[in-house]
Amino acid sequence: MGNNSKATFRVAIIGCGKIGSYWDEVSSDRAQAKTHAGAFSKNPQTEVVCFLDISADRARQAQSFWKTGIATSSMEELLATKPDIVCLCTPESERLVYLKALRALPNLVIISEKPLSVNFAEAKEILQIAKEQKGWKWIVNFIRRYSDGFQELNEFLRNDPLGEPVGANAWYGKGMRNSGSHMFDLLSMIFKIEPVSVQALSHVTDDLTDRDPSHELRLEYKNKTGNVVPVHLSVCDHRNFMFFETTMIFSKGRIRISDLGHSIEVDQVVEDTRYPQYQTLNRIHHWNNGLKSFFENMGNEAVRLAQGEKLDVKSSLSQAFSQMHILEAANESVKLHGQKITINYNDRS
Ligand SMILES: NC(=O)c1ccc[n+]([C@@H]2O[C@H](COP(=O)([O-])OP(=O)(O)OC[C@H]3O[C@@H](n4cnc5c(N)ncnc54)[C@H](O)[C@@H]3O)[C@@H](O)[C@H]2O)c1
Repeated sequence: MGNNSKATFRVAIIGCGKIGSYWDEVSSDRAQAKTHAGAFSKNPQTEVVCFLDISADRARQAQSFWKTGIATSSMEELLATKPDIVCLCTPESERLVYLKALRALPNLVIISEKPLSVNFAEAKEILQIAKEQKGWKWIVNFIRRYSDGFQELNEFLRNDPLGEPVGANAWYGKGMRNSGSHMFDLLSMIFKIEPVSVQALSHVTDDLTDRDPSHELRLEYKNKTGNVVPVHLSVCDHRNFMFFETTMIFSKGRIRISDLGHSIEVDQVVEDTRYPQYQTLNRIHHWNNGLKSFFENMGNEAVRLAQGEKLDVKSSLSQAFSQMHILEAANESVKLHGQKITINYNDRS
């Protein structure tokens, strides 16, 4: 890697399942990339040089669809392709072992799928590797941080026009680690604060995996004034339908995110014209691009990192590590039958 803005960067994909490659292989809508392979095949400054999967068939199918690079199940063969960018798209239980093997390559952009790891102990090991591998740059792919709509929302929120966060209700399903982590990330990004405590209430053991049930949670944040900001995460069983939605209340407005995140509505407080002296809400924005172009935008950021540009990564390793604190504390609360757990970010890192 260097500072050459015209260079083509070599990309290896580890794990060629749905998010690695498959969703684009079977999609009839090619307008927007849905996978890492799609993002880096579209990007004029990258070339996919390796598809690695534990299933040799899956790797071969991906390689023959994209017609580029090699298909393999061997890390030695992957290392020999000398990638500049590596996408970790296996289940989270496999990330650490691949990161250890990748240490042979001193300069890399690592793009890890979320969540960062299968548990907090492994997240700490990953952080240690990141400290040692000084030539590595990191992205953890919390997709909404890269979409056009959420970038516009973040820009709008830059000077806190809605005041301070006051509370939120949210719905998710399909596993606390798998999908709840997206909701934790969204809340942290929009509130610009991390939760201080978590309490696990009921849960739905859904059919995705018996190791990742969806827990109903109560989180507490603290806003700048020092007030508690309660957030209730309810669970919707994804076997009924996919649901990922939140309404966030601020002192001067409301943000409502629905349709899995495609739709972002923003209301601001105004004087009610019908009932004098009442303050009510008035719609000021409605974006429908909340999931637009996130893979393309993430790919562009990876290229800029590979070019040696110094930038604040939109979805960073440290933010992903914060999610792991929340997940760890929530799991502790589950074990303690719903006890409220204070999340001590310092003690755990
Ligand atoms: N950012 C997002 O919005 C998003 C969306 C979907 C999935 N994900 C995350 O991506 C990861 C993968 O999810 P998925 O839905 O693509 O799963 P998947 O099961 O469809 O794909 C995983 C792939 O990894 C391969 N694999 C498993 N163990 C391996 C190993 N030891 N070595 C090499 N390959 C191995 C499997 O054969 C499979 O092809 C999960 O962590 C998931 O949470 C993120």
